[in-house]
This record gives sequence, structure tokens and C-alpha cells, in this order.
Amino acid sequence: MATQATGTGAEALPKRKAWKALQEHYEKVRSLHLRDLFASDPRRGERMTVDDAGIFLDYSKNRVTDETLQLLVQLAEESGLRERIDAMFRGEKINITEKRAVLHVALRAPKGTSIVVDGENVVPEVHSVLDKMTGFSNRVHSGAWKGHTGKRIRNVINIGIGGSDLGPVMAYEALKHYSDRAMTFRFISNVDGTDFAEAVQDLDAAETLFIISSKTFTTLETMTNAHSARAWSLANLGGTELSVAKHFVAISTNEKEVAAFGIDTANMFGFWDWVGGRYSMDSAIGLSTMLAIGPDHFRAMLDGFHQIDEHFRTAPFARNLPALMGLLSVWHNNFFGAETVAVLPYEQYLKRFPAYLQQLTMESNGKHVTLEGAEVTYPTGPIYWGEPGTNGQHSFYQLIHQGTRLIPCDFIAFAKTLNPLGQHHDMLIANVFAQTEALAFGKTPEQVKAEGTPEWLVPHRVFAGNRPSNTILVERLTPETLGKLVALYEHNVFTQGTIWDINSFDQWGVELGKALAQRIIPELESREETTLGHDSSTNNLIRRYRRLKD
Ligand code: F6P
Repeated sequence: MATQATGTGAEALPKRKAWKALQEHYEKVRSLHLRDLFASDPRRGERMTVDDAGIFLDYSKNRVTDETLQLLVQLAEESGLRERIDAMFRGEKINITEKRAVLHVALRAPKGTSIVVDGENVVPEVHSVLDKMTGFSNRVHSGAWKGHTGKRIRNVINIGIGGSDLGPVMAYEALKHYSDRAMTFRFISNVDGTDFAEAVQDLDAAETLFIISSKTFTTLETMTNAHSARAWSLANLGGTELSVAKHFVAISTNEKEVAAFGIDTANMFGFWDWVGGRYSMDSAIGLSTMLAIGPDHFRAMLDGFHQIDEHFRTAPFARNLPALMGLLSVWHNNFFGAETVAVLPYEQYLKRFPAYLQQLTMESNGKHVTLEGAEVTYPTGPIYWGEPGTNGQHSFYQLIHQGTRLIPCDFIAFAKTLNPLGQHHDMLIANVFAQTEALAFGKTPEQVKAEGTPEWLVPHRVFAGNRPSNTILVERLTPETLGKLVALYEHNVFTQGTIWDINSFDQWGVELGKALAQRIIPELESREETTLGHDSSTNNLIRRYRRLKD
């Protein structure tokens, strides 16, 4: 059936010609080993690479042949990927369940360009918010912005959760090298009071600015933390409500709620309903990032995002970095039955990158119905996870190398380190290359025996190999390259969602738990025995908690 909703005219996925061809093709290639694929094509490792927009991707160690790639590209075409990319960039309301455009690409569109939503060019608005952020950031840095007692701001605490936290934390950690070390940056997300208590315990309220980041300004965790922050700030400043204006700014789309909280809307930095929470780290939600690294670095990051946007929009799919990565994920997920993707940055500064990607990928593509509301008949979003290397090697890599599951890996490495220290960097990068080599080629029983291993031990020491990986090699971690990496995964997710014919831009799956928690809160707080209407397990847990808590 043609999908009116997508406007691509694509057939349902199982009916697409390329999908059927891939099913047949899979039977032919499923048992091919990377050892043989490399042996029969000495140039495979040079051919199956893309070097564009400052990103080098080696995808040769995936279980693909040239025919696989042709069919995957054909699948992208039959799935209407090109039309859908164009629809996104044109500002069409492709988030159909929320009737919204999906325009994170507008957040990094250069001045003077035009993207129209509901008859209005949104690019000038984006730049006006950026200019306001820049002015604010400069005032904080120069000391012109003063706290209630006249002291300058030295501590910045971002309060937010999900997309209003994970991007800011990840970017702060990733770009720490570029940050103002005279300032302290902290992030509070969890409604667990420990998060708040630990974040403020050694800070002087007179020097502390809170950024309340919430697209909706109604999120339970964020509003609870924001109220605690206001109480802490007022108590420590002996201040009046007037002090709130000096110590609180808001990032939101909801002006009314911001004003109701008591934050002067002059100190509010806006964004728009066409920016999804998990796609918002380059909007005003990035104010803490800008305060940490300065406006010039922030704009360099936006430029990095934009370069990948342009690449994604214009490069043919066979040479298109995000499209290829998305298609390879589909290949491993839907044909080889891989259920996860490990993201393994060999860069300590990227330690929060996998956590950031978990929301981006899984909140986007964890969907069970197509755009038209039909139950999907194939697996969608894989589970993303990971840790920085080399740490992970001494933890979970055993399972990747010798376990029974197929785990495609994305290795991310930088040719130049930001902290040259003896041989450290060569050792680090040697480990990246060694891991991808070991995963692909393994170690045969013959090789193990040739090392003099006793017969009984041989099976334990064999590495089957044939485990797929991508290697992403970038020159150096900079604000610009971070922007590129994030955009790479944003559009990778978009590609996957398009193939699966799902809406990558809503998140209805988070609602039920939120609503149930709202019902349970008063039941936990009630002093009287109330009749509980849950299942017997939930009722019992509530009663036990109430008995134990005081
Ligand atoms: O609960 C999920 C979610 O809605 C995310 O999509 C979002 O990033 C997060 O909560 C925070 O929402 P807000 O920015 O509106 O506080």
C-alpha cells in the first residue's frame, strides 16, 4: 500500500523489491567469512571506505559484498529516503503523530538561508536566539552579569532530563579541553534528591546560576529539581524573589510556565516545537555548552553539524556516511538478527557519548507500528550501548569476541590526541585497530594449535571472527568534529527509521509510566491507609514502602 503518511509512495517494507532481493541475497552470503572476503579482494579495506566532510569511515569489516551494498542502496531508494530527507529539510510535518516539522537541521543553518515552517522562515529566529545566547554568555564571562549580592557567576548548573540533559552533559564532557576552567559546570537530572544534594553541596549560592532546561517546562523531575534549586538559592542568599532573576534562566518552548515559575521571560531562551528533545543539544538547550566553551567554539560545533547535514542531503547513498551506517545497521539487525549496536569511542572525553546516543537512537526508533499505525512485522531499533575504550576491553569485550551473539560495533578514534603523553596515544589507537582486526579475522583452531596449545584448551582459545565493525577515524576532537559526529548519528537514525517506515520523532512510550507515577505519588505520601487499586504486586510494594520509609 502506498504510504500517504510519508508522502514517499513507498511500498510496505516486506513488499519492497530490494527487501525481497536482500532476503535471497542473505542466504547466499550469510556464511561468507570476512577472512575470505578480504583474501579475495586485496583492496577491500581501501575500497569500502568513505572520506568526506572530515570523517573517514571504514566499513569494510562488515559482512557485506558489493552486491549487498547495491541492494541496500536500492532499498534506501525504494523506501523513499531521498524524498524523506527533502521533506525534512523543507520543513514538512513528517512527525505525523504530533503534527510537527522535524527541523534540527535549521538549528545549524547558516545566516541568510531559508527554511520555511507554516509560511515563516525560521532561520532568522534561530540566529536571533543564538545572538541572545552569545550576549548572555559574554556578560557572564566578563562579570557584567552579577548575582544578587554583586558577585560574578562562577558556577553553572543545568537542570534538565533526557534531551535537556544528556546532550549538555555529553558536550560538556566531550569539549572540556576547550572549556573555561575557572568555572564549574554541573548537571542535575534525576529526581533522586542525591543528584541535587551532591551537585550543590560545595557551592556558594551567590556565585551559582541555574539553567532550567525543559522543552515543556512541565517535566516532573526537572520542575521538582528547579523548585528545590529556588528554595536552596533563596535560603542561602537570604534573598527575596528578586534574586531569582539573577540566578535563574530558562530554556523552554513554554513561556507561560516559565513566567509562572517566576523566571523573568527576558531571561528565557526559546526554541520551537519542531526541535525534538533528543535533537536539541545545538538549540538554546546548549546554553551550558556555550557558557563552557564560548560562543565561537559553539558556532564551530554548529558548523560541524551543518557540514554533515549538507553531506547527508546531497551525497549519493553509496557514498553517504549516515545513510551507509543506517543501512548497515538495518542489514545486521533485520537479516543477521543482531539486537544491539556497541558504540566504542577510544577517546576519554567521549565517555558520555554512548549514553547520549541511547536516547537519540532508542527513543527515536523503539517503535512497534508503522507510520500508518500497522504493527511492524520485523525488528526495529536495536539497543545501543557502549563505553570508552580501552576500558571496555577489560570488561564486556569477551562477549563480543567469543559470546554467542552478534554485536556490530562502531569504533570511534581520533588521529591526534588533545593530551599528548608519552606513548599513550599510539597505544590507544593500536588497540582500536587490534580490536577490529581480531573481531573480523579471529583465530582459527589451526593457529591456536600451532602455538602449542594443548588439544583440550584449543576450543576455548579459538576466536571465530566474522564479527562486524565500523571504524570512524577523525583527525582531532574539536567542537566542529563533535558536531559532525552527532549529526552523523542523527541522520543514521533517520535512515533506519525511514527504512522501517516508523516515526522516529515521537515518544509515546514514555507516557504510561509518567501517568502511573503521578497516581502513585499521593498514595506513597498519604498518612492514612488508602484503598489501593493496583495489581497485587504493586499494592504490596506500596504498602511495604509506606511501612519502611519513616
Ligand atoms: O520523557 C521523555 C522526554 O519527553 C524526552 O523526550 C525529553 O527529552 C525529556 O523527556 C525531557 O523533556 P523536557 O525537555 O520537556 O523537560
